[in-house]
Amino acid sequence: ATPVLFSAEIICQVESRAQMSGKNYTRVTKFILVGFSNLPELQGLFLIMFLAFYLITLTGNLLIILVTLAEPALHTPMYFFLRNLSFLEISYTSVTLPKMLTDKAISFAGCAAQMCFILFLGGTECFLLGAMAYDRYVAICNPLHYTHILNSTRYIGMAAVSWLSGLLMGLGHTSVIFTLPFCDSNEINHFFCDIPPVLKLACGDTHLNEIAVFAVTMLFLPFPFILILASYFLILNMVLKMPSPEGRRKAFSTCSSHLVVLTLFYGSASVMYLRPKSAYSSDMEKFISLFYTIITPMLNPIIYSLRNREVKQALRRTIARKGFLKRRK
Ligand SMILES: *[C@@H]1O[C@H](CO)[C@@H](O)[C@H](O)[C@H]1NC(C)=O
Repeated sequence: ATPVLFSAEIICQVESRAQMSGKNYTRVTKFILVGFSNLPELQGLFLIMFLAFYLITLTGNLLIILVTLAEPALHTPMYFFLRNLSFLEISYTSVTLPKMLTDKAISFAGCAAQMCFILFLGGTECFLLGAMAYDRYVAICNPLHYTHILNSTRYIGMAAVSWLSGLLMGLGHTSVIFTLPFCDSNEINHFFCDIPPVLKLACGDTHLNEIAVFAVTMLFLPFPFILILASYFLILNMVLKMPSPEGRRKAFSTCSSHLVVLTLFYGSASVMYLRPKSAYSSDMEKFISLFYTIITPMLNPIIYSLRNREVKQALRRTIARKGFLKRRK
């Protein structure tokens, strides 16, 4: 309950500060997302690439949702979390990519809403990845008690807590940022309303806000991060003790691909959020944030399930069943 109280406190403080300073500071009513238009020679290429990424992300994640729902064999906590993650990834990319592909102007409220959703979904993703790592740990290291430890109350509860924590993080960060005055430039040198590029546009002293952003992040993110590290450490420990080299190789390859995605997501996000303002150029920032906004949502379904034999078989069965129905009609 303490993190909840603490972030509520931050929100209230910032809100009252904004009320005191009055609304006359807020002169910017809309923002322009510069995106990659400062690299005109690459724009066409980027457009096609991002459209392709978006379609792959939508298809891959939608497929996972449908297959895990349709197949009774996949009605386990692991696939519940995966379905939740896929649903999240679809929403996550839909908050940034369509806007990025179509329109550069975004209203003040739209920008705030976009930031809130991105941080809400990004925060939830951190927690869901933590829950999934814990799920793998129990399944591999304590298989006999798996159904008892991860009973339905518990895994649904873990997902619910993930969404709630993400929501608090999104609201916390967004209210810290958007109560700042914006007065001069309205050109955001980025492809969506992320914290660092928006913070650069704020006028006045942003020190306290930066500290608040750091505090909100540090309040939430260490929990899933430590859960992930501890889970994979215990899994690796277990895998190294496996007698059969075949089993060891298989478990190792699964874990290492998970770790690659986790590193990409956590690495790029912490480089972006856990550092002082303007430590990198804007172009560098755009490049870094591509990883957690576009690359990992696309890779997650591939890494977590399409490489997995259970899912491949279920997919084949579902397609075969559909084909069979069609032929009979
Ligand atoms: C994700 O988890 C939440 C909370 O447990 C649940 O209410 C929701 O239905 C899940 N979504 C999907 C698509 O499985």
